[in-house]
Amino acid sequence: MPEIIDLGAYGPDFVTDPHPYYAKLRAQGPVHRVRIPEYMDVWLVVGHEEARAALADPRLAKDWSHAAAPVLGPEEDEWQLMNMLDADPPQHTRLRKLVAREFTSRRVEALRPRVQQITDDLLDAMLAAPEDRADLVEALAFPLPMTVICELLGVPDIERDTFRVWSNELVSPTSQEASMAAARDMAAYLDVLIEAKRQSPGEDLLSALVRTSDEDGDQLSRQELVGMAFLLLVAGHETTVNLIANGTRALLQHPEQLSALRADFSLLDNAVEEMLRYDGPVENATFRFAAEPVEIGGTVIPAGEVVVVSLAAAGRDAERFTAPDTFDITRETRGHIAFGHGIHFCLGAPLARMEGRIAVRTLLERCPDLALDVENEALTWRPGMTIRGPHHLPVRWR
Ligand code: HEM
Repeated sequence: MPEIIDLGAYGPDFVTDPHPYYAKLRAQGPVHRVRIPEYMDVWLVVGHEEARAALADPRLAKDWSHAAAPVLGPEEDEWQLMNMLDADPPQHTRLRKLVAREFTSRRVEALRPRVQQITDDLLDAMLAAPEDRADLVEALAFPLPMTVICELLGVPDIERDTFRVWSNELVSPTSQEASMAAARDMAAYLDVLIEAKRQSPGEDLLSALVRTSDEDGDQLSRQELVGMAFLLLVAGHETTVNLIANGTRALLQHPEQLSALRADFSLLDNAVEEMLRYDGPVENATFRFAAEPVEIGGTVIPAGEVVVVSLAAAGRDAERFTAPDTFDITRETRGHIAFGHGIHFCLGAPLARMEGRIAVRTLLERCPDLALDVENEALTWRPGMTIRGPHHLPVRWR
């Protein structure tokens, strides 16, 4: 067994800016045995080629029953296991198929006017702020994707603040107990909400999922519905916020890139892909479990061990991207894996891309003098290794 590298020993710098640490690990090899502060020992894949291969390898299972040792302890939540991101074929195929048609590019395109409207309203409110300053996370980056996913699913306004607390706790846990409690509370709430949709269906996706059946008459069970709603709401709350926050920060820290984009918005789509590659919202993919001994990049991972694929490290691999630490909105971004790869490739990618593009473009158009209103060192970052993003992003526009 290779020596264990204790990531906790890197200290708070690892959360503030993990990229130099990933670079150091990558220079030593594509796969490492590491100790993650909040969990057990895992295998971390940091090379791009190996990361892509690992994400597509069916021997790296998602179903937690393949874990040699319990990962979350005896309290493991049954509801949490019922979603597609924790399932392998054939269950994964079935769950994804039942909802995939709602997230095609064509379906998402129909949401464009509403996404633009929400963005405009949020920016109207932001620009009315005294002293021409605001926290971009609170003003736009968080409420935009949160409102979109809640409207899509039919979660009432009144519940949204509570949702944020649960959802934050789930992906950036402050403690294992708090995270389990959040999962239980959210599952219990969703169960009640789904029952309400069954009794009196609306036009929303959750009501559609309650009714849904595919051509074979397949339907989601009550537990599967809770799991599906849970996954979509958490994914909708925790990811795009950081595409907008990390991406805007990267732009504002690179004035020549910002000017290039302002001068030519045909660069927008590629700029958003570069934001995803350079400092994407999902730093590390979710746990995978070796269903049998699996060799990755010359290292054999024993059966039952946990594998974590580092999307952030893969995005900065010089073997794949020239000058990977340079933020360049005109570069070739193809092959980045910020949305994952293989059968679990992000279902919400078309929606996230549309929200990100609309948010960035509208923000720049409405704020010609937009600038960061914070020193880099003063930013604080979401804890944990899954989600990468600042708690707040102070900006000014005059
Ligand atoms: C910029 C924003 C987003 C990023 C960077 C992102 C990233 C990812 C990644 C990396 C995965 C795969 C994780 C793994 O394999 O371990 C994933 C899966 C998933 N994402 Fe996203 N996501 C984003 C937005 C969204 C949104 C808005 C939704 C929902 C509407 C969503 C729904 C999902 C779902 C359902 C899966 C599971 C797919 C499966 O297991 O087949 N994502 N996402």
